[in-house]
Amino acid sequence: MLLTSIWVLDLLILFGVSILFALIYSTRKYDYFKKRNMQYEKPVPLFGSILPILSMRATIGEWLRQLYDSFEAPYFGIFVFDEPYIIIKSPEIIKLILVKDSNKFADRTVLAPKHNEMLSNMMFWQKSPDWKKVRAKMTPVFSSGKLKGMLPIINDVAVELNQYIRQNLGKLETKEVTAKYSTDVISKCAFAIDPHSFRNDMNEFRKVGKVFFEFTWRNSFVQSLYFFKQNWATTLRLEFFEKSAFTFLRGIFWKAIENRQQTNVKRNDLIDIIVEMRNNKDLCDELNFDGDKVVAQAVQFFVAGYETSSSTLSFTLYELSLQPKIQTKLREEILNNIKQYNGITYEGLKQMKYMDMCIYETLRKYPVLPFLDRRCNEDYRIPGTDLIIQEGMPVYIPMMALHYDEKYFPEPEKYDPERFVEKNSHNVNGLYYMPFGEGPRACIGERFGMLGVKIGLSHILSEFVLERSPDTPVPVKFEPKSFILQSTVGLPLTFREYHPTTTYDN
Ligand code: HEM
Repeated sequence: MLLTSIWVLDLLILFGVSILFALIYSTRKYDYFKKRNMQYEKPVPLFGSILPILSMRATIGEWLRQLYDSFEAPYFGIFVFDEPYIIIKSPEIIKLILVKDSNKFADRTVLAPKHNEMLSNMMFWQKSPDWKKVRAKMTPVFSSGKLKGMLPIINDVAVELNQYIRQNLGKLETKEVTAKYSTDVISKCAFAIDPHSFRNDMNEFRKVGKVFFEFTWRNSFVQSLYFFKQNWATTLRLEFFEKSAFTFLRGIFWKAIENRQQTNVKRNDLIDIIVEMRNNKDLCDELNFDGDKVVAQAVQFFVAGYETSSSTLSFTLYELSLQPKIQTKLREEILNNIKQYNGITYEGLKQMKYMDMCIYETLRKYPVLPFLDRRCNEDYRIPGTDLIIQEGMPVYIPMMALHYDEKYFPEPEKYDPERFVEKNSHNVNGLYYMPFGEGPRACIGERFGMLGVKIGLSHILSEFVLERSPDTPVPVKFEPKSFILQSTVGLPLTFREYHPTTTYDN
């Protein structure tokens, strides 16, 4: 039915009415924070407060930092399209949410899609109550005994890493080198599969790692919807990661699991735990533990461990290349430690305090995940305030902003490991340093990740010297298309052979 006798005019009227409707609909909750007397970032109709993110003017970490710096209050509001979100600044309240009252904030906001059983059953995406049971089952994979057992495997990968650097001395793309290293570390430790990334750059595991974490427009768009507009991602049945990567991993891991079941060999690794879970009939019935739900636990470790560890190692090498004195000090600690313990050992690594300080400082400046998120699962009044966080409300912890707050870390742009000379001097009255998250949903792979980074650093620094090259980005510019912290142009550095008689820190 036509409204006028001119169809173009009809179309224009229809278009105008649709826009008007969309504007009214999208702004219907925009008085949410005003009604509660809270400070908030003024929204723009349709987009809310997140235009800087959508237009790729800033990464989410940097944008939250700008907002954090512009509000005085202990918490403030933003609108993600039409939905209100609460951002918490106060370390005391952060502690309540992540630790003390974590049962009221048990899940992350990110979508666990019904249309992808594998993804929705990965621990990071998984929701309570299934998450709790799976987490409890997976925790033993990272016991001290198991980590000790993994050390020789990681050392072997690090030997290959050094061989590769020696063959390619000069300018190297550090992020690429550390990505090969962490691909092999995780594949070998968790699944007993050696992808040989240093010999074969195009092996399937490397390809999968690239597919997962490449900052493409596709990844950027879809992953934003998973965090910000879950119902759209569900309706459009969008895939967080490209499906081809899952298809490959599914095939590989089933083979590994079946092989282990048939041979009955015990390696004390992740595959053993998964086989054990499958043999536990009660648990299987309770969790319906079959098919992609099983593989999800294996794939999870690859997804969560690969980029995080390689990013931490590469940013540490990057900062050391800019700070020869710190590099020399750390090398001295490593060489003395290797001498004292007769090689790179589990006990020796535990004693390298300066190395810990350097890695903590890297994670302060470059927290791989720049924010943490939780969804409130029942109305929660923040103690001592009038604010009720309503059931269903998403809550963000702007981790990177806290790590750059002058109040806690003076001269935050400076890379200064001495800040961590007293490990327990931070987070005394609340939480403001938390690169691995905190509370029951904190990173389960922290110790494994730290072990891989420490072994990699020990090997590299004991044999090579790192220098800034002409195209090393200073400072790093972060890629706005990526949810995690990545340099837009990689981290090219110059690697030279280390000679004990030469002085490097003048
Ligand atoms: C330096 C390396 C790493 C960093 C900086 C890191 C950081 C993080 C962060 C910030 C979280 C979210 C915590 C929260 O919401 O409170 C997380 C969760 C997680 N990480 Fe890591 N991670 C690292 C290495 C690893 C490794 C090596 C693995 C496994 C092999 C791993 C597995 C996981 C899993 C499974 C979760 C979800 C835990 C849950 O929801 O219960 N991570 N990680």
